[in-house]
Amino acid sequence: MRCLLLYYSLTGQAARAVDLAAQACAQQGWEAVACRMDFASPGERPARPLGIAGSKKWTQGAQRGMTLPLVYEPAAAVGEAYDLVLIFSNTWGGSPSVPVRSFLESGEARRLLAGKPFGVFVICRRLFEKNLALTRSLGEAAGGRFLGGEAFMHPGGQIGSLIQTVTYINRAGPPLRRFLGFPLPAYGLSDEALARVPVFTRALLERV
Ligand SMILES: Cc1cc2nc3c(=O)[nH]c(=O)nc-3n(C[C@H](O)[C@H](O)[C@H](O)COP(=O)(O)O)c2cc1C
Repeated sequence: MRCLLLYYSLTGQAARAVDLAAQACAQQGWEAVACRMDFASPGERPARPLGIAGSKKWTQGAQRGMTLPLVYEPAAAVGEAYDLVLIFSNTWGGSPSVPVRSFLESGEARRLLAGKPFGVFVICRRLFEKNLALTRSLGEAAGGRFLGGEAFMHPGGQIGSLIQTVTYINRAGPPLRRFLGFPLPAYGLSDEALARVPVFTRALLERV
C-alpha cells in the first residue's frame, strides 16, 4: 500500500508533522512518499520575515482563493498512483494556504485524487474549521473521497499564540520569549499536537 504526503511549509511546522506521519505509515507497513510543493516562480515564494505587506498579501490572497502555478519535490511523486493521499493544509487567514489551494484546484489534484481516499491535517496556530471545510470540499471537487480531518495547533491561549505567531512570521531571528514583559508560548506545533499525528495517521490507514 502506498501513501502520498503532500505539503507546503513556510516555517517548518507542516514538515514536522509530515515526518511523524511518514514514520507512522512505515511502521504500519505502508510505503510513504513525502512531496513538498512550492510556487513555481522563485520570486513569488514567501520567506521569513514576511513583513506587514507580505503578511497582508498572503493572508488576503488565501482568503480570496488566490492560486499560483506550483512545482513539486520530488517532481515524479505527483505522477504516480497511491492508495491514500494525506494533505497537510496550513492555515492562512483562516483558509487553506495559497500553495495548498493551488494544488487542490490543479490538474495534479484531479489526477491524484480521482476516486481515491484522502485525509486532511490542518496545520495552524488556532483557526481550523473553515480551512478543514474548504480543503475537504476542494478535495472532493477534485474527485477525492474524504476519510477525515483533524487540527494540529500551536500551544498557548488565543492572545499569546497570536502575538507569538505574528511576531515570528514578521521578524527575523528566534521566537520572542516575552512581549511587553509577558511570557509568550513557544512558536510551532504543541507537543500534544505532534503526539496526535501518528495516532491520526494510523486511524486514516485503518479506514482505507
Ligand atoms: C500569511 C500567514 C497567515 C496566517 N494566518 C493564520 C490564521 O488566520 N489562523 C491561524 O490559526 N494561523 C495562521 N497562520 C499561522 C500558520 O498557520 C502556522 O504558523 C502554521 O504552523 C505554519 O505552518 P508551516 O510552518 O508549515 O508553514 C498564518 C501564517 C501565515 C504565514
